Amino acid sequence: ESTTELDIGSIETGQAIKAVFRKQPVFIRRLTPEEIAAADAVSTDSLRDPQTLAERTQEGHEDVLVVMGVCTHLGCVPLGAAEGEDKGEFGGYFCPCHGSHYDTAARIRKGPAPTNLAVPEYTITDTTLVIG
Ligand code: FES
Repeated sequence: ESTTELDIGSIETGQAIKAVFRKQPVFIRRLTPEEIAAADAVSTDSLRDPQTLAERTQEGHEDVLVVMGVCTHLGCVPLGAAEGEDKGEFGGYFCPCHGSHYDTAARIRKGPAPTNLAVPEYTITDTTLVIG
């Protein structure tokens, strides 16, 4: 069993980074207050895969969103984790393979992907993120 350990202290608000967990991409984003508000403003009834931001983050660290960078449609790596990349119509991540748009909580909002970007198991202690 391998884990991925990262220092997330230097990830600025609004910035996302890419890492690797068990040979797959993982995206870590420190959400802005606006991105959190946008996620919280959505009624889960309207979602294809209903989950709140709180359910997708850890208590006390609701601004840290950790998701697998693997589109749940056919497995492409979505854009949006690097500076200047297209975040899609909902400001999160965008998969250009067939046009899936994920919101600021990385929930599927438009396009063919059936489910939200997966949240791996992880823990946060101070500024250390351990995935797996
Ligand atoms: Fe992402 Fe098809 S693999 S939309």
